[in-house]
Amino acid sequence: MQEVRTILIGVGQLGRRFCRLVEAKTPHLRERYGLTLRLVGAADSRGAAYAPNGLDWGTVAAVKERGGSLAELEAARPGWDALALVEQAEAELLLEASPVNLKSGAEPGLSCIRTALRRGMHVVTPNKGPIVLAFDELHRLAAEQGVALRFDGTVAGGLPAINLAARDLRGATVFTIEAVPNLVTGYVMDLLADGLPYETALDRARAEGVLEADPGWDLEGWDTAAKLVILTRSATGYPATLDMVRRAGVEAVRAEELRAARKSGYRYRLLARARLDEAGDYRLSVAPVPLAAEHPLGRLGRKEMGVLFETDIYGRLSAIIEEQSPLPSAATMLRDILDIFT
Ligand SMILES: NC(=O)c1ccc[n+]([C@@H]2O[C@H](COP(=O)([O-])OP(=O)(O)OC[C@H]3O[C@@H](n4cnc5c(N)ncnc54)[C@H](OP(=O)(O)O)[C@@H]3O)[C@@H](O)[C@H]2O)c1
Repeated sequence: MQEVRTILIGVGQLGRRFCRLVEAKTPHLRERYGLTLRLVGAADSRGAAYAPNGLDWGTVAAVKERGGSLAELEAARPGWDALALVEQAEAELLLEASPVNLKSGAEPGLSCIRTALRRGMHVVTPNKGPIVLAFDELHRLAAEQGVALRFDGTVAGGLPAINLAARDLRGATVFTIEAVPNLVTGYVMDLLADGLPYETALDRARAEGVLEADPGWDLEGWDTAAKLVILTRSATGYPATLDMVRRAGVEAVRAEELRAARKSGYRYRLLARARLDEAGDYRLSVAPVPLAAEHPLGRLGRKEMGVLFETDIYGRLSAIIEEQSPLPSAATMLRDILDIFT
């Protein structure tokens, strides 16, 4: 039986669900994999708790589900924030699930991940920010320390897009990557094609809780661009960066175009694309594109995301996920953990 002392940073939509998931899966993990995850520390925006003998996964989830803070727990460490927890806790694994915060240097995620790797912890994160900003540095650190850095949840929710890209395309030359890794943009374009005015479409998305506080992150294509960079690096090793992505958001397409496309059997999606050119470089773009029904990503519904790879030896490979809640995204952390420890 293997026991893994675990720290969790960020107990929001994903972190909370992950706690419930471990609670429910504990017998399965023990019986099938001989693995026990012991939560020794957790942090949110208001504080951190640390208990070397273990915190209860369900208690941590319950505090956050009722809008409380980890600073209320008996094991709370006054004055500690997420980074202090990572610096001081004795653990083998960091789960980093705080917000992306790309505009402010991907903090606190980036510092927490760096510190954990330096301290010899394995890291699993669905947070795009640190991975897109410091892909090489974090991989180098992980290699130096002989630990794993896994981030399958960063692209297209619960779809194992990174696993496919990094593991299952090995040996191939990847000619093209196409992906629809963001749900909100497709939803908004569908509402516009229904005839709703732009502001009403945004209000509808906001009311359903799918639009972030900063809608520009999704609608201007930043989220999709960040995912494209991570996917391209994982599939090809090409040193893609955000500033290489030619980016257009939802506003680049007019409502009349969306309606006309629908009438002719096309569906607009914000498509992330990486294409290998003759010089051996990848051309990266994010733009609203009308997809024909015959295209593997052309029939994606409101809750569906997908990815497609064209390769020299594995053919044309595509995968789609329907994600009704953030549970599959949270579950990617479990998949990554099992890959590391079993
Ligand atoms: N939601 C999804 O479907 C999804 C899918 C794939 C990937 N992701 C990624 O997963 C990560 C988490 O997403 P989420 O939806 O769970 O976000 P969320 O609901 O906004 O939760 C974020 C959590 O991080 C905490 N936090 C914020 N600032 C912090 C700080 N400075 N120090 C420590 N904790 C801090 C928040 O604390 P409070 O609770 O105190 O506010 C909250 O618990 C993000 O990077 C996101 O891009 C999300």
